[in-house]
Amino acid sequence: MKNICVLVSGGGTNLQALIDAEERGEIKGGRITCVIASRADAYALQRAEKHGIKTRVLVRKDYADVAAYSKAMADALTEEQADLVVYAGFMTILDEQVCNAFLNRMINVHPALIPSFCGKGFYGLHVHEAALAKGVKVSGATVHFVTAECDAGPIILQKAVEVQQGDTPETLQKRIMEQAEWKILPEAVSLFCQDRISVENGIAVIK
Ligand code: GAR
Repeated sequence: MKNICVLVSGGGTNLQALIDAEERGEIKGGRITCVIASRADAYALQRAEKHGIKTRVLVRKDYADVAAYSKAMADALTEEQADLVVYAGFMTILDEQVCNAFLNRMINVHPALIPSFCGKGFYGLHVHEAALAKGVKVSGATVHFVTAECDAGPIILQKAVEVQQGDTPETLQKRIMEQAEWKILPEAVSLFCQDRISVENGIAVIK
């Protein structure tokens, strides 16, 4: 059984999708063993506690810089014996020491079809604001491996979602979560836990 550590910063609906999938027996070969939040008031912590999952809080401003924060996070993940680290709405940058220590063992869900609307500054509702400002007719979500370069790691799964006339960032976010994120994140986690994802020449391949 692989130990899954989930990193969160906010509401935690993607964490909830993972918990629900695990409870339905859909995460084959893995279980969520720890949830680590970057904010003590993240509602995601309550979701974890309700399901008896261990929680920890690591607040960025308690550390001098990104390097010190990243070291603390790498230590925590090692203590938790994490086999897989999932960024589920985790909004704090970690440096390459964590990315390298967990290379191809860290995945992120991003609320757009990478390489569109991604990289520095594209997070949460900002992503959907940018998609609507561009007038795209299709957006979606991407699950990818985390590398030191923001949103640039190998793509594991993607799902497209239609943009509708009159969408606001909030309505588009909700549709992308419901139709894409909450489906492809648990699916990718389950594939990983069954050792069905490999990275070949920078490309994720599903067996
Ligand atoms: C989700 O839409 C997730 O894709 C996004 O933040 C939201 C978190 O919601 N993540 C990013 O933008 C990362 N670049 P949640 O806390 O309810 O899962």
